[in-house]
Amino acid sequence: MIEVNGLTKRYGGTTAVKDLTFTVRPGRVTGFLGPNGAGKSTTLRMILGLHEPSSGTVTVGGRPFRDRSRGLRHVGSLLDAHDVHGGRTAAAHLAALAAGNRIPRHRVAEVLQEAGLAEAARRRIGGFSLGMKQRLGIASALLGDPPVLIFDEPLNGLDPEGVKWVRDLFRRLAAEGRTVFVSSHLMSEMEHTADQLVVIGRGELIAAESLAGFSARGTRSDVTVGTSASSVLEGLLAAEGATVRVEGDLLVVTGLTSVQVGEIAQRHRLPIHHLSTRSSSLEEAFMELTADSVQYLAGESR
Ligand SMILES: Nc1ncnc2c1ncn2[C@@H]1O[C@H](COP(=O)(O)OP(=O)(O)OP(=O)(O)O)[C@@H](O)[C@H]1O
Ligand SMILES: [Mg+2]
Repeated sequence: MIEVNGLTKRYGGTTAVKDLTFTVRPGRVTGFLGPNGAGKSTTLRMILGLHEPSSGTVTVGGRPFRDRSRGLRHVGSLLDAHDVHGGRTAAAHLAALAAGNRIPRHRVAEVLQEAGLAEAARRRIGGFSLGMKQRLGIASALLGDPPVLIFDEPLNGLDPEGVKWVRDLFRRLAAEGRTVFVSSHLMSEMEHTADQLVVIGRGELIAAESLAGFSARGTRSDVTVGTSASSVLEGLLAAEGATVRVEGDLLVVTGLTSVQVGEIAQRHRLPIHHLSTRSSSLEEAFMELTADSVQYLAGESR
């Protein structure tokens, strides 16, 4: 379990993380979501004791992580896949980590196998692709068989097979009762990976709840209707209090159900050639809820 309490980090005049409080529980995959610059990496570094908080506390398994010796047995993490010595082979890199954390040597071959890197064990890391480095980073996180696993954007650079492997791995680790905390700036990545979400924007907490709960909160349904008497129907629907937008040949209606829209058209004998309900996706829910906190908007300077 990871417990974050009132966590704040300031860099000079910038507040990267602001009074964050949330808990990451074992037995499930928790997604840590936020737009670029939201403060995800900063928070993960504080959890791992790599950055000192300006205020607030964070514990892993009830204690600050920094107080643990043989850290890899307690928490496995992948923060930056490039953060490895390029001149070493994959096997030598893992063997050094194992030795430093008093992890049995046989784990090296096991995690290389698990990460699909058995063939590349004796190759120098400098020649690895980004995807292979991600796999190596995940292998190092698994090395100490830890109860808590933390990954910063682990899906970056992975091919579809790699993405599937990582998702299946995370689910299995959670099913084994471990705490799995995974960051991403893409909702679509979390949609099929996480059960639980912690969403932040500009360093502040936006939501900490189940994936289902989060998507229900942001979901709005629109009714799409097509008729040859478009402007007549538009006026009738607006008179009933709906908001109506024209999209090509169709009207997009919010504020009424499809049944209500159908009945209004029927009452006025308007021919309908299309009627459907459209729910916003999880991606839209995320965009909507973080809209005010997106720092770096394309094509905009501020
Ligand atoms: N060492 C530092 N010195 C100064 N500012 C920093 C430092 N590290 C991070 N920041 C600032 O803190 C904020 C949060 O950055 P952080 O890297 O935690 O975001 P993130 O959510 O991981 O973003 P991304 O999705 O782009 O990885 C940003 O405004 C960033 O510029
Ligand atoms: Mg980051």
